[in-house]
Amino acid sequence: MFKSKITGAGHYLPEKVVTNKDLEKIMDTTDEWIRERSGIEERRFAEYGKDTTANMGTKASRIAIERAGLTVDDIDFIIFATLSPDYYFPGPGTTVQYELGGKRTIAALDVRNQCSGFIYSLSVADQFIKTGMYKNILVIGSELHSSGLDLTTRGRAVSVLFGDGAGAVVLSRSEEEGKGILSTHLHSQGEFAEALYVRGPGNFTPRKYYPKMDEDYINTTPQMDGQLVFKNAVVRFTEVIMEALKTNNYTPADLNMFVPHQANLRISQFVQRQLKLTDDRVYNNIQRLGNTTAATIPIIISEMWEKNMIKENDLHVLAAFGSGFTWASALIKW
Ligand SMILES: CC(C)(COP(=O)(O)OP(=O)(O)OC[C@H]1O[C@@H](n2cnc3c(N)ncnc32)[C@H](O)[C@@H]1OP(=O)(O)O)[C@@H](O)C(=O)NCCC(=O)NCCS
Repeated sequence: MFKSKITGAGHYLPEKVVTNKDLEKIMDTTDEWIRERSGIEERRFAEYGKDTTANMGTKASRIAIERAGLTVDDIDFIIFATLSPDYYFPGPGTTVQYELGGKRTIAALDVRNQCSGFIYSLSVADQFIKTGMYKNILVIGSELHSSGLDLTTRGRAVSVLFGDGAGAVVLSRSEEEGKGILSTHLHSQGEFAEALYVRGPGNFTPRKYYPKMDEDYINTTPQMDGQLVFKNAVVRFTEVIMEALKTNNYTPADLNMFVPHQANLRISQFVQRQLKLTDDRVYNNIQRLGNTTAATIPIIISEMWEKNMIKENDLHVLAAFGSGFTWASALIKW
């Protein structure tokens, strides 16, 4: 069987920076509340009519392909993770296939696993490469949350946490033993679907019944039981990281970097303490970008790539937890 390794990473962020002070002007919240509870100081919001979930993914992908030393026509398959697609259907993967402008009609798969979406997608890509079916796969996470958030006081418990952006990596075939994606670990627990969800549009809210439904029921903005999410996240993050380390006979002390999905700085810090990791071995960007859901981890990989923070033989663990509930980890030897 072949191995797979990340050979390029890129990201794209919308230009508009929205600070906590900016949010104070449109809802009853404070910079202090947001910083204390989540660590977030600012986030990016897309410009309507310019940025889309798909085209942000395309921009990130072009950079990833170039850094991998490849061209669009070397890419065999596109996997696109998002919870904020441009169309209800089709998903944005096919739009990226079109926007990249390659000569081939390569396959595009859309993955809906919210905050764990990128690691789920990486795992799918890894399987396709291991079996020899594809050589180079584009794995994208992109989110345009801002158009779907309730940016009023009613939605403040959720809307202050999220931001827009996209990241992408190229996963390529490799024959180096003991390097690349060492393993991926995926989990779900669907009984918690409504702890973090958007009810509609969907089959629970058929349009013909709207007149008989109350406003809360047909609400199309994200709803969350924040404390339940928090309590489950801290347990599952640690579990799924330990699962990845034990599978490969490593301990937390062997890690060069922990790349946590950025749901809340307090969640990352809690897990960091459990793993006894020093600050220089955890990468957080929630302060600048908020929670960018499926885009978070590929944005971090691309930021580390640009800052030359990834060294040969480094051991990194990626981990995510989110809506579904779903959670996942990937252990990488660079
Ligand atoms: C969302 C979260 C930051 C809220 O923190 P919390 O300490 O649980 O806060 P609560 O929801 O209990 O709310 C506390 C108070 O702040 C208020 N509040 C909520 N959002 C607010 C905001 N943006 N600004 C000011 N006040 C706010 C609430 O109304 C509540 O007021 P009350 O006590 O008068 O009723 C926290 O629960 C969390 O991070 N959960 C995990 C979220 C997550 O990871 N989501 C993504 C998963 S991928």
